[in-house]
Amino acid sequence: MKEIKASLGQLDKVAAYLEKRLPQNCIVFLRGDLAAGKTTLTQAIAKSRGVKGEVTSPTFSLQHCYGKNLYHYDLYRLDHETFMQMGLFEEFEKEGWHMVEWGSDALWNFLKNVGYHLVLISIEPDDHKRKYRIEI
Ligand SMILES: Nc1ncnc2c1ncn2[C@@H]1O[C@H](COP(=O)(O)OP(=O)(O)OP(=O)(O)O)[C@@H](O)[C@H]1O
Ligand SMILES: [Mg+2]
Repeated sequence: MKEIKASLGQLDKVAAYLEKRLPQNCIVFLRGDLAAGKTTLTQAIAKSRGVKGEVTSPTFSLQHCYGKNLYHYDLYRLDHETFMQMGLFEEFEKEGWHMVEWGSDALWNFLKNVGYHLVLISIEPDDHKRKYRIEI
């Protein structure tokens, strides 16, 4: 477990750590309350990779792609059964990092059983910064 404290302007530090430590292919669950900074972290990774802008998937409105190997999913209020019915989980087979916001415990367990490498990043407010707990 690694803990990094970072302001908005220091997110490149968190991105650099992740680039160094995370496997090429993994699913990252982003945990944290509303406005914790889950989306912001994903965007900071994209920015540090030099990706300009995001592309919403032509197939799934819940999926955003940042370049080739970075995907973002916002599953807020989407229950596990609906997620499974949509067939969205097949997307996780694509190479790269899959950043999941509001993923359920059921989804975590399902993906673990399938054999994916799961990473957990918990984000908490800390003064005007955020604390990132990274479990790889
Ligand atoms: N490391 C940080 N330090 C200070 N402020 C931050 C940091 N990361 C994000 N923020 C701020 O927190 C606010 C919420 O960020 P963000 O939208 O990424 O949260 P979220 O966790 O995705 O929320 P939601 O669950 O609603 O989607 C934004 O105003 C953003 O600028
Ligand atoms: Mg968000």
